[in-house]
Amino acid sequence: MNKSTIKKVNFPISSKCLDEILIRYEIDLDTISIRELNRLVDKLSVEYSIKFLRFEFGVPGINSSPIGPSEEIKVIKNNIKISSTYPPFDGLQRLKKATSDFLEKYINIQVPSSSCIPTVGAMHGGFICQAICGRRILGAKTILYLDPGFPVNKLQAKFLGLEVESIDLYDYRGIALINKMESCFIEKNIGGVIWSSPNNPSWVCLKEAELEGIGKLLTKYDVIGIEDSAYLGMDYRTDYSEPGKPPYIPTIANYTKNYFIIISSSKIFSYAGQRIAVTIISPDLMNKRYENLKKYFDTDKVGHAFIHGGIYPTTAGVAQTAQHALAALFEAASIGEYNFLDDVKIYRDRAKEVKSIFKNNDFKLVYDQDMGDPISDGFYFTITKTGYKSSEILFHMLRHGMAGIPLNTTGSNREGIRICVSNVSVKDYGILSDRLNILNSYLNQL
Ligand SMILES: Cc1ncc(COP(=O)(O)O)c(C=O)c1O
Repeated sequence: MNKSTIKKVNFPISSKCLDEILIRYEIDLDTISIRELNRLVDKLSVEYSIKFLRFEFGVPGINSSPIGPSEEIKVIKNNIKISSTYPPFDGLQRLKKATSDFLEKYINIQVPSSSCIPTVGAMHGGFICQAICGRRILGAKTILYLDPGFPVNKLQAKFLGLEVESIDLYDYRGIALINKMESCFIEKNIGGVIWSSPNNPSWVCLKEAELEGIGKLLTKYDVIGIEDSAYLGMDYRTDYSEPGKPPYIPTIANYTKNYFIIISSSKIFSYAGQRIAVTIISPDLMNKRYENLKKYFDTDKVGHAFIHGGIYPTTAGVAQTAQHALAALFEAASIGEYNFLDDVKIYRDRAKEVKSIFKNNDFKLVYDQDMGDPISDGFYFTITKTGYKSSEILFHMLRHGMAGIPLNTTGSNREGIRICVSNVSVKDYGILSDRLNILNSYLNQL
């Protein structure tokens, strides 16, 4: 929106008008999806000539390092055949090796290159992982989510005809989490468990003791853990940025052989547009066999099912230049030439500022504790206003030129809003403070 088109808006915008728009577009704020919210905010921005503060997008807010794009250009210029040849389904050798080295340097695990399979973003990896987890054993077609989480993963489970169960990390941490998980595993209907740590949206990070407890359960009950590391190492309370030196990034791989780990380029390398990630299949799981897989993947072996029954029928491989880009990023990070965690630290600084502006205006953090420690600052955090439901908070935020995702759409059973700080800049802090101030006074006099 051009500056000359921005009029001075008197907040709040009329609730009658917003209600009319919601009815016209058949939007329910209790169940609104991220895409619907994007469209709604676009419409409101035009209708009221407001530049919204958009906390709903979970997209990278910084440019990627030039390492990725220049590698893509270089490889395709030097070898024009790249564009006319199919990639191998299990990925280019260079990326597989670079992933294996990166894992050793940053999370201190040894896996062979054959265990590292590129996918079209973490979404693609999560889709195949869930398909395998939920189809291994007859009767174990439920995926357990450590919520809140990334809503699209549940949509994938639905798409695959799987069932979903949820444990809210607000209610269960530490030994209570392990006990709760065991009570679910005993039922024998759970095929896999999925979580992200740091967690989207609460930024809760699982502790070593929790990973150890989860790992033991996964082994004991033969359930597979899907560790979705979309925000790998972005818990800034610990500095994981020196390759090959402790502390290493915590992982489930230290506690079980029953795991998939998904590493996405989207956030850690701001490479979301090129749709590239890697799924690491534990070397033991790679060779494990489950009779029930045959029906869906024409093989009973997990590794084969992933590659030939999962990658082949979905995308038949991953664009080769993107694979070279990710390989180059992993290589540069592994030899200490590219400090990727330093680049994305900007989100920590933004979260600190934006969080304090919300708190100064009587908003509270929903997920505020990480087992006794204050929550880390990162890409997202969660806010609430006492006495208001998620959809009501969103309704009033929209009337004051701000947008975020209602927590109930993330699987949380708490009332509140996910705030993503990726697209906020220093010049927005004053505007945010003014709008929240008006919103707070408005709500106080209702
Ligand atoms: C927890 C989590 N997993 C996966 C993704 C998607 O990653 P990708 O862009 O690699 O598909 C996201 C993106 O926001 C996410 O938050």
